[in-house]
Amino acid sequence: MQLVTEDNITALAEQRWATAKDPRTALLMTALVRHLHDFAREVRLTEAEWMAAVQWLTATGQISDEKREEFILASDVLGLSMLVVQMNHRFEEGATPATVLGPFHIDGSPELGFGGDMSDDVDGTPLYFTGTVRSLDGTPVAGAVLDVWQADAEGAYEAQLDVDEARLRAKYHAEPDGTYCVRTITPKGYSIPMDGPVGALIGQTGISHFRPAHVHFLLTAEGFEPLITHLFEEGAEYLDSDVVFGTKQELVVSFEQHAPGPTPDGGSSAVPWVLAVYDFVLQPCAPQ
Ligand code: BEZ
Ligand code: FE
Repeated sequence: MQLVTEDNITALAEQRWATAKDPRTALLMTALVRHLHDFAREVRLTEAEWMAAVQWLTATGQISDEKREEFILASDVLGLSMLVVQMNHRFEEGATPATVLGPFHIDGSPELGFGGDMSDDVDGTPLYFTGTVRSLDGTPVAGAVLDVWQADAEGAYEAQLDVDEARLRAKYHAEPDGTYCVRTITPKGYSIPMDGPVGALIGQTGISHFRPAHVHFLLTAEGFEPLITHLFEEGAEYLDSDVVFGTKQELVVSFEQHAPGPTPDGGSSAVPWVLAVYDFVLQPCAPQ
């Protein structure tokens, strides 16, 4: 029988997990065991702390469902999601950078035409995003799909509400010359959900639990890397303290105030409206 000691347990656990049939799983699991054990040694983890962590993970699982993604939120506030994004989307200079997906994207948004209004009857100041979708060499990406979603003025996403119809989300297509136009409402900064285990932990720290005002975009086009990103309002509160580490200077856009009058979709607004101009630059897929 093998004698297990405080000194050899890490090596023994690594050996066991190294037997995973898939080599990548073996690599992931042995590294995880090593780092977990190092962590426990470094902080001299007590049994009470270990149990508190187990209970926190249990609570995180219990509050989660297809609409409430508490584990994604945990990964976001720990900076892990953004680290994984950065490592896996090292686009060339000039390409629009990626940022976190967040827990509130819903598949299958309705398709709208150029300048179609994704805010429908939701209250807010009209906001037009317009610009082009291009490749790194400047070629327009005709037909690129822009899947757009955002929170309402109270900071609530459709996924957090009990609604039957698509709310503040839609898909748009770039025109043959690469231009696009999204009609929505100005976003506001909002708090991440604080009523669960992630909020309980954040509440024990000096961490701000807010995100700066932003709209989410997921761009897809044949021959290009998918781009998951946001556009943030220039000058918005919390740009420097985004709780999920998602802000990047290249994604901050000026929101210009306009008096009632002609709008970029060829129509006209009877109320003051806001214009944000942004050119997306997609990274071509690497040749196979
Ligand atoms: C979001 O922007 O929708 C979001 C991202 C990460 C955590 C919570 C919300
Ligand atoms: Fe968001």
